[in-house]
Amino acid sequence: MPKKIVVAHCSPRAGGNSSMLADEFIRGAEEAGNEVVRMDVGRADIHGCKACEYCFTHEGACVQQDDMQTFYPDLQDADVLVYATPMYCYNMPAQMRAFEDRMFCQVGKPFTITQTALLLCFEDKDITTADAAIGTFRQGAQFCKREILGEVIVNNVYAKGAIAGNPGLEEAYRLGLSIS
Ligand SMILES: Cc1cc2nc3c(=O)[nH]c(=O)nc-3n(C[C@H](O)[C@H](O)[C@H](O)COP(=O)(O)O)c2cc1C
Repeated sequence: MPKKIVVAHCSPRAGGNSSMLADEFIRGAEEAGNEVVRMDVGRADIHGCKACEYCFTHEGACVQQDDMQTFYPDLQDADVLVYATPMYCYNMPAQMRAFEDRMFCQVGKPFTITQTALLLCFEDKDITTADAAIGTFRQGAQFCKREILGEVIVNNVYAKGAIAGNPGLEEAYRLGLSIS
């Protein structure tokens, strides 16, 4: 059965390496008949969670009026959440952290997302430097009871477009295609 997939692209760099991973994933996912919603999280205005607990008593609504409000409706009825992101300072970029923190409101009204995946790129040649970033993703998935459908990890890419020709792009496409 076709799914509704949210792809959260978490880099501020338009057309960069994680964006190309997202494009390939989306190509596969759409070919497989899924509905895909792409969110430009990396360039959005998203503030951190204020821990005000407004959402506890307002059916999961967040009191903050920023770009997150445009994302909530699609997050509320999505099946799959895919992160396409660079690594920043050995973890996820601040933009992605804020996006995740602001999903805390789902304690007031749970999201429907049951599956997730990670498309991660970074500069370091040593792949183990991404352990914390990958661990953060896995811990979040476990907490939210989301099945991990796949992890595409691409190292040794720094400059915009350096990922061209990397097998990770084909992997991302195949992962998208496998969802139905
Ligand atoms: C603020 C910042 C922090 C970064 N930190 C790391 C890091 O800790 N480890 C690493 O390997 N690459 C790091 N990078 C490099 C990016 O992960 C790499 O250039 C990535 O391919 C960028 O993806 P994008 O083109 O989608 O933005 C950093 C880049 C920036 C701008």
